[in-house]
Amino acid sequence: MMKPVASEARPEPQSGDPAALLTGHAEFRAELSAIDGMYAEMFDRFAGLIAGAVGLADLEERKAESIGRERGHVTQALGQVAGLPIEQKKVAGRALNLIKRRLEELERAKRLELESAAAPKDALDVTLPGRRPWIGRPHVLAQVRDELLDLFHGLGYSTYESREVERDEYNFTKLNFAPDHPARDAHDTYFVAPDVVLRTHTSPGWVHAMEERKPPLQLVFPGRVYRAEQVDASHMDQFHQIDGLFVDRDVSMADLKATLNTFARSIYGPKTRTRLIPIYFPFVEPGCQMDVACAICDGSGRVRGGAEDQRCPVCKGSGWSELLGAGMIHPNVFRAVGYDPEEWTGFAFGMGIERIAMARYGIAEIRLFLENDVRFLRQF
Ligand code: DAH
Repeated sequence: MMKPVASEARPEPQSGDPAALLTGHAEFRAELSAIDGMYAEMFDRFAGLIAGAVGLADLEERKAESIGRERGHVTQALGQVAGLPIEQKKVAGRALNLIKRRLEELERAKRLELESAAAPKDALDVTLPGRRPWIGRPHVLAQVRDELLDLFHGLGYSTYESREVERDEYNFTKLNFAPDHPARDAHDTYFVAPDVVLRTHTSPGWVHAMEERKPPLQLVFPGRVYRAEQVDASHMDQFHQIDGLFVDRDVSMADLKATLNTFARSIYGPKTRTRLIPIYFPFVEPGCQMDVACAICDGSGRVRGGAEDQRCPVCKGSGWSELLGAGMIHPNVFRAVGYDPEEWTGFAFGMGIERIAMARYGIAEIRLFLENDVRFLRQF
């Protein structure tokens, strides 16, 4: 819908989409956000200004206002860096220089765009390169999934693709959910028929794999899962998980912990801090949850907002964010698939792909993943 144009007020300068001008927009913003959200905001404001220029003269004016030598806001901010205390000087100097360089690149890209649009309509420049065809790319969730699968393949796991429509028995009973156990309530389930469900997690894949194959097993189970959730910014009624399963003789919790730490550090960086806390899942005993130190506040629970500290909005002040569930496979699950629990041991883990993608790219709205808006998708 078009907005009506207010006739009396001076119109706000129109803002444009800088992601369409230069590649690497999301990465650049993430880098700035990691320094301080304030810089990302500053960048957004001027990047939008430059991208929105409606002609070469307008672009010149917008350039002067943002990175111009005389009165550019970014230039002026850089001029004040020298007077800051040493610690702040380093951070501000780096961030502002990054912003300035990126805005200069954006300005050049915008200028080229406007110049080529300004050429007379009938001019034919035979030296122009051909128009590059628009080539798609894997969806951001597919990219994250493939990266995780690559990592587990490197640790010796193979992929097992299981079904999305499951018998209740596989989704619950053989995973040691007793018929009326309240643990079922945590899985708001879509029933297709009285005994048939849309799988609520990827864990039923283990049951199929174990029934079909003999141990030892080392498998990962990626896929889509369904829950009858109330949809909001962080909940969808369909999302994606990856489970992992390791079965052999003499597997211990130490093996599980080492595997999970290797995994967490390869996705979040070698210095990542983690913790394991006990939690109940019917199919593992003991069961645990692995948390990683919050990437936004680095585990402190506080972020800088304006002059004062504020509670970190991402981890809600706890300093930790939940990464996955895991545990040692429950003997009842082995019994259900015909493995002897005296002979075989194992661990399993399961994680949500959306959650990992959201934490990594600072995406606050889960619904964006399914809306297929290319302005969102082409940022990754
Ligand atoms: N299937 C669980 C869920 O969706 C997550 C989970 C927990 C998977 C522990 C595991 C595990 O493999 O060991 O809530």
